[in-house]
Order: sequence, then structure tokens, then C-alpha cells
Amino acid sequence: KLVAVFASGSGSNFEAVVSAVAGDAASPYEVSLLVCDKPGAAAIARAERLGVPVYAVRPKSYPSREAYEADVVRELRARGIDFVVLAGYMRLITATLLDAYPNRILNIHPSLLPAFPGLHAVEQALEYGAKAAGVTVHFVDGGMDSGAIIAQEALAVRDDDTPETLYPRIQAIEHRLYPAVVRAFAEDRVRLDGRRVTVEGGLG
Ligand code: GRF
Repeated sequence: KLVAVFASGSGSNFEAVVSAVAGDAASPYEVSLLVCDKPGAAAIARAERLGVPVYAVRPKSYPSREAYEADVVRELRARGIDFVVLAGYMRLITATLLDAYPNRILNIHPSLLPAFPGLHAVEQALEYGAKAAGVTVHFVDGGMDSGAIIAQEALAVRDDDTPETLYPRIQAIEHRLYPAVVRAFAEDRVRLDGRRVTVEGGLG
């Protein structure tokens, strides 16, 4: 399966998803495109180092969000992309992209959803006083981090945690969990029934 990763920032999850199958001729997926909406984002430099083609876009240069997404969809279709993996892509997805890839867009979020959707989830969890933090991988719908949950992993918040100490532990989980989910999805082992998702054979 051919995968497009969308990223706006550092791209560490993008790199984890690419690297998990590097050199694996039998891999069920290949990341064949990075879509990046932020010129100069570190994700672009990673893609160049990893040899992944980049579609660099400037959403503001389009007359509307629909026109922007229609152009992205055209690029995805031209490249035969099977499904989309969002990894720190800082925009809501609209019907243009959702309808082109129904139940074929995944996202990762650094909290135990439905707690702390949106921006600054790690800071929000600490400010709230949560004792458990975590990572969620979910299907994307039109809302903010609101789609059906595919996988979650929790970790303990320590009494002296700050965003700077907690986030690296969250990212370590992300970099392991996201490639495992992408692999399962590429192998057609992810089943959606209403909001309930099962991964046949588990995440290994
Ligand atoms: C991750 O923490 C992800 O959960 C959130 O955005 C961040 C992206 O990080 N959606 P990176 O760019 O992959 O390093």
C-alpha cells in the first residue's frame, strides 16, 4: 500500500513510520509522499534525507480550503496513494479530503482521547492534574481529534513532570505505536464497526 504522510512540523512521527519499514522488501506499506503545508518545516529536511518525495503546499495561495484540498487530492490520486497518515498536521480536514479517502485517514494525538483534544494536549493534561497521560491513534473525521479510536497507550504522570520531561516519554510511545497501527491498517487488519475498532491479530 502506498501511504502519504501529512506533517506541519518536526516530522518525528513521519520519520518513525518511514524508518519502521526501511529496507523491508516484504513491508505491507511504503511512504511514497510527504505533504507539508509549512515551508521550512523540519519534516521536509527529514523527507529529503529519507528519500521521500515532498509535496510542499501553501494553503493560503488557494482561493478556498476546498480548492486547496482538491489540489492535494489530485496529487494523492496521481501518485496512487491508498491511505493518509496525519502526523502533526495542524489543520482540520474537510469533506473534500474525507470523501476522497473515507475511513482511510489516520491521526495520532498526544493524550488519552477524549481527554484534551486540540492544541497543547500535554500542557493541558499537566495543568488539569491528570495522573495518566498517553497517546491515541484514531480515524479522522470532520471534528477535532474526534474520530473512532484505533489504539491507545497510557503512561504515568510523575509528580515533578513538566511538558519538557513528559513529552519525550509520550513521543517514545508514539514512535512505536504509530508504525504498528499503520502496518496493521496496510494489512487490512483494522475493522471499524460504528465507533468500535478492532485490530485483528493485535498490534504485535
Ligand atoms: C505529535 O505529538 C502528535 O501526537 C501530534 O503532533 C505531534 C507531531 O510531532 N499530533 P512530530 O512532528 O511527529 O515530531
